[in-house]
Amino acid sequence: MTAQDLFDRLKKIQPGAVLCSYTFEYCEKLIPIINEINELKKERNAVILAHSYVAPEIVMSVADFDGDSFKLSQDATKVEADMIVFAAVRFMGETAKILNPQKEVLIPGPLSGCSLADSITGKEVCELRKKYPDHTFVCYINTTADVKAECDVCVTSSNVFKIVSSLPNDKIVFVPDALMGKNLQNSLEAKGIHKEIVLHTGSCYVHEQYDPDLIRFFREQNPGLRVVSHPECHPGVALLSDFVGSTGQMVKYIKEAPSHTPFLLLTECGLNARLQSELPDKTFIGSCSMCKYMKSNSLQNILESLRHPENAVKVELSCNVMDKAKKCIDAMFHYAAL
Ligand code: 13P
Ligand code: SF4
Repeated sequence: MTAQDLFDRLKKIQPGAVLCSYTFEYCEKLIPIINEINELKKERNAVILAHSYVAPEIVMSVADFDGDSFKLSQDATKVEADMIVFAAVRFMGETAKILNPQKEVLIPGPLSGCSLADSITGKEVCELRKKYPDHTFVCYINTTADVKAECDVCVTSSNVFKIVSSLPNDKIVFVPDALMGKNLQNSLEAKGIHKEIVLHTGSCYVHEQYDPDLIRFFREQNPGLRVVSHPECHPGVALLSDFVGSTGQMVKYIKEAPSHTPFLLLTECGLNARLQSELPDKTFIGSCSMCKYMKSNSLQNILESLRHPENAVKVELSCNVMDKAKKCIDAMFHYAAL
């Protein structure tokens, strides 16, 4: 890859101004790092998985697999390399480890948390289990391996509706995202499906910032505007949106819209950036919010992880937790394929 190739892809990106204003000179500085990463990947038989929310230069130059969390968890089952460098957040690295216990999984970003994954522990799920012994426990994939180990089935934003509506039990405990849980309750009610769903109190600090008044304001200013949001947004936002879905589903919806459609895309800035670059025939208006955890991944810390894997943060989980959490993830693959 040359600096010109990289700059051609990055120059259309504008969200968040200062942070996302790419120059040719900046791309030139990145090229030696990118080349060394690509060399070290071969040397160490490593692959890089990157979520769409990380900095676009990572997705566009060194990622072997990219996408939303469901696609990345499917991709993780196909990896043949000895080492996985997961440019995202820790819970996604844990999922990759659970699906590849023999492989080394490295986490390059120093802030690898997630406000949802950090909002509940496995111990708290055990307490809830005592309170709701007849309920099926459903966890969002944005949870730690300890939480998955105590739940029956996990879901992602792309399959939450399908899986919960397919479950034979009508009594559900859904953890940890209260906003996604309310959106789920609304969608089920709208389809006439009755489930009693107990919710927890977690939320994503990035998506909860979006406000329904913002949508009203932008709609007034932009005739023909289509509003697209993530199910981690407030139900008031979801109800006013033209489309609600996972990052992968949002990409598909936007790609299929007629040229020159204006979009208000209410999710993390990484996706806005990617789509500004990949879909120049669409217009993206408004600003977006950044996830500090996803954005703590950089080409520099990916390079450091590959140069010195012995010093990198590795995902290490007990066999017992991995075995139990795998059952929960396998149940997701089972229901998602129905
Ligand atoms: P996706 O499942 O859409 O990839 O979302 C993951 C996430 O962390 C959203 O904030
Ligand atoms: Fe977690 Fe929200 Fe960041 Fe996604 S965007 S990783 S849910 S904090």
